[in-house]
Amino acid sequence: MKRENSAISIVDRFDLESNAATEFRRLIHNLNGAYAAKAKQASTGSSSGSGLRNPGTDRKSILITSATVSEGKSTTTAFLGICSAKLKERRTLLIDCDLRRPSIHHLFSIEREQGLSEYLTEGLSGTRIIKKTELDRLDIITAGKHIDNPTEVFDASRIGRLVDEVSDQYDFIILDSPPVLPVSDPMLLAGEVDGVLLVVKAGETQRDVVVRARDLLTGSTDRLLGVVLNNLNNSLPYYFNPNYYRYETTKD
Ligand SMILES: Nc1ncnc2c1ncn2[C@@H]1O[C@H](COP(=O)(O)OP(=O)(O)O)[C@@H](O)[C@H]1O
Ligand SMILES: [Mg+2]
Repeated sequence: MKRENSAISIVDRFDLESNAATEFRRLIHNLNGAYAAKAKQASTGSSSGSGLRNPGTDRKSILITSATVSEGKSTTTAFLGICSAKLKERRTLLIDCDLRRPSIHHLFSIEREQGLSEYLTEGLSGTRIIKKTELDRLDIITAGKHIDNPTEVFDASRIGRLVDEVSDQYDFIILDSPPVLPVSDPMLLAGEVDGVLLVVKAGETQRDVVVRARDLLTGSTDRLLGVVLNNLNNSLPYYFNPNYYRYETTKD
């Protein structure tokens, strides 16, 4: 994997023993539960044609979005991917679908070019644009070269076909995306994945803004699985603070 200058990748900075790692493990566990419930609904016909891409299997694609900018979508995508690959040993692919403000390539210190925008504009195949990371089971499709007309180039159904094209190679595919309120891309992408997670910056994003985003997503898809509360420190009661019940390993 070619590194973008000498920057340190998020993989090196992520502490697997940290509280954050524990929360991401929990999130993966909960996703399995939520996914299994949806798959069961779909197979028993109790949900009106949710059309999961991979019903009844463990393989799945998840879209990460939020109501507004800087709520932690890309950070959540990256950490979820690292935990999935490293702790759960799943073959994991991250796709940066934020053509306007992409950051997955920065987080992993890899080149941005030859990614999603080239797939959409030049017809490169999925396998040509997959980049390896320093983690065996973690691969990335970056946003690709900068384009001036992301609204025209963005094509949710083609991205859905890309997910289909590579899905045999992965256990878990995580799509990072722009926010719901300013851009329609995530609403369109929601129909192409098995589940959607809404990241909310606790203590900052207004309730009405989150409700509006939720309504937009639930109006267009039944795949909203839940919310990831980011920025929890100092915004919720003490019992949400993991330091309150630290459980450290003893050596003797
Ligand atoms: N839980 C957190 N604690 C501290 N900083 C965070 C946290 N989550 C995100 N950030 C920082 O906030 C900024 C925006 O996060 P990012 O994941 O890029 O948001 P988005 O993709 O939603 O725009 C980044 O600088 C990131 O490092
Ligand atoms: Mg982002």
